Amino acid sequence: MTRVITYGTYDLFHEGHKRLLERAKELGDYLIVGVTSTAFDESRGKLDVSQSLVERIENVRKSGVADEIIVEEFQGQKIRDIIEHKVDIFTVGSDWMGKFDYLNEYCKVVYLDRTKGVSSTKLRSEEGVGIQRLGIVGAGRVAHRFIAEVRYVSGLEVDSVYDPDHAAAMEFVQKYDLRHAAPDYDEMLNDVGAVYIASPHASHVEYARKAIDAGVHVLCEKPLSLTAADAEDLYARAEANSVVLLEAIKTAFCPGFRRMVVLARSGSIGQIRSIDATFTKLMEPGREFEGPDGGAISELATFPLLAAVKLLGTEFEDVRTTKLVPEGSDVDTFARIDLRTEKATATCRAGIGVKAEGSLVVAGTEGYVYVPAPWWLTNYYEERFEEPGVSRRYYYAFDGDGMRYEISEFHRMIREGRTSSFMLTPQESIAIARLIETARADNTAVLR
Ligand code: CTP
Repeated sequence: MTRVITYGTYDLFHEGHKRLLERAKELGDYLIVGVTSTAFDESRGKLDVSQSLVERIENVRKSGVADEIIVEEFQGQKIRDIIEHKVDIFTVGSDWMGKFDYLNEYCKVVYLDRTKGVSSTKLRSEEGVGIQRLGIVGAGRVAHRFIAEVRYVSGLEVDSVYDPDHAAAMEFVQKYDLRHAAPDYDEMLNDVGAVYIASPHASHVEYARKAIDAGVHVLCEKPLSLTAADAEDLYARAEANSVVLLEAIKTAFCPGFRRMVVLARSGSIGQIRSIDATFTKLMEPGREFEGPDGGAISELATFPLLAAVKLLGTEFEDVRTTKLVPEGSDVDTFARIDLRTEKATATCRAGIGVKAEGSLVVAGTEGYVYVPAPWWLTNYYEERFEEPGVSRRYYYAFDGDGMRYEISEFHRMIREGRTSSFMLTPQESIAIARLIETARADNTAVLR
């Protein structure tokens, strides 16, 4: 009996998949099909798969040609499967030509012609709401990074840019060959289905509100707002208009950070009792050092506060802030925000004029989680215990500068018509705004 194996994601099962499986089956007598797990796809940068693993397995099952279906979970698994399942032939579409020649050592490798004109990527951009045309607000530093990252998310296309400095918008549009530099924000809102707001902090709320009221989905750079009332108002409007509003705190959407949060909350280090989260970044004099919206808290505290909220929840009994406002300065250049819940404490540090180790420690009654700097770009962490040397290490993908994960979730929410993401709920985003507001207003302990 000749045993054949093939692998794929099989998202939105199409004619190309069907034809490939049929021809794979014809190569032998018994066909094994490996379907990629969601985590494996995420780890190899395939972020925009629409269907769940169960749905994709069901797609393959319904084709009626697979004798056995397995799940592909890690790089290198093909070698193990071929040996374990005594496979004679490995086959895959010709788009992978040459990529699997290393399997020749274990079995015969056959590349089958790929069916022309159809792919999951194409279907994903056509399905549901179709291609979302997106406008960028603010042609600054972050917007450039956004352009580099958005191409990993199929179905989202940057269409135009608005910047009050129209020359900057024109330059940006030319550089990236975009359709339009909008001279007017309202005009851009008529043309696009979604906006990414990357303007200075003080303008986020106004731009977001206008977009939401116009029925346009919003991905807004952090901090969404410096007050809880504004954040609440924005989410309420978004809900009422059925549009997506997502605060772009990229850490919240990274696979490593998400896994760390659920691991720490699952009891593996006992009960969480204390959190230490620090993010400092020395900056050249500029807008960040100027009032009324500059300062370390408004600039960077979102990240450590995110850790506190994701790990301890949104209800805090006490918030105390110690900040450094150097003589002659308008704003805090360093701040330590101490939070307390009924059962745990958290210390969040942010600095634009003081440098510290940017690590995260989640302390529990049986052990702790240590995430080394830069913890906000989580790709590695350890669980450690009393006994020295006893630790468990975890590694995760963190591709590019991490923005692609939040963009991918934003697009998925639009596609699925979801106004809330469990990765960062409106309640969590509002809680962070409230903590920022409280910490900024607290002047009981000011160092000079
Ligand atoms: N395949 C094919 N013809 C197509 C599309 C896919 O023969 N038009 C084959 C691939 O070569 C692979 C298998 O189907 O052997 C599963 O591919 P998968 O990656 O799931 O499908 P794609 O449509 O290529 O997905 P994507 O666009 O996400 O890359």
